[in-house]
Amino acid sequence: MVAELDGVIMGSAGLFPIGTGARTRHNAMFGIAVHPDVQGCGVGDALLGAIVTHADGWLGLQRVELDVFVDNDRARVLYERHGFVLEGRARMTAMRRGTYVDSFAMARLRP
Ligand SMILES: CC(C)(COP(=O)(O)OP(=O)(O)OC[C@H]1O[C@@H](n2cnc3c(N)ncnc32)[C@H](O)[C@@H]1OP(=O)(O)O)[C@@H](O)C(=O)NCCC(=O)NCCS
Repeated sequence: MVAELDGVIMGSAGLFPIGTGARTRHNAMFGIAVHPDVQGCGVGDALLGAIVTHADGWLGLQRVELDVFVDNDRARVLYERHGFVLEGRARMTAMRRGTYVDSFAMARLRP
C-alpha cells in the first residue's frame, strides 16, 4: 500500500509471504517506510491500520511479524499501538554507521 500527497508517494507498507506451503501461509512479514518530510504526521499510523485491516479481513493471515532496531522507539510504539508484541531480541543483526545494531522481533496474532 502507498500513501500519496498531491500525486507523490510519501510512504509505503507491505506484507510479504513467508512461505506458500500449508504450514506457513498463515504468516507474513511486514515492512514500512514514510518519507522524512512527513514522519510523525500520522502517515505510518494510517498505513499500518490499513495493512492490519487487509491482513485480518481479506488475506486471512493469522500472524504478521517484523523486525525493528531496538532504538527505533517511534516505530516500536506505532507497532504496539496496532497490536504487535515483543517476542525477542536478536543481537547484531545489521551494521549501521560502523557498529552492529540489535533488533527486536515483534509479531501480531489475529485477534
Ligand atoms: C517508523 C515510521 C514508519 C512511523 O511512521 P510515521 O508516519 O512517522 O508515524 P506516525 O506519525 O503515524 O506515528 C508515530 C507515533 O510515534 C510517536 N513518536 C514519535 N517519536 C517517538 C519516540 N521517539 N518515542 C516514542 N514515540 C514516538 C508519535 O508521537 C506518534 O504517536 P501519536 O500518533 O500518538 O502522536 C516512520 O517514522 C519511518 O518511516 N521511519 C524511518 C524508517 C523506519 O524506521 N521504518 C520502520 C523500520 S522497522
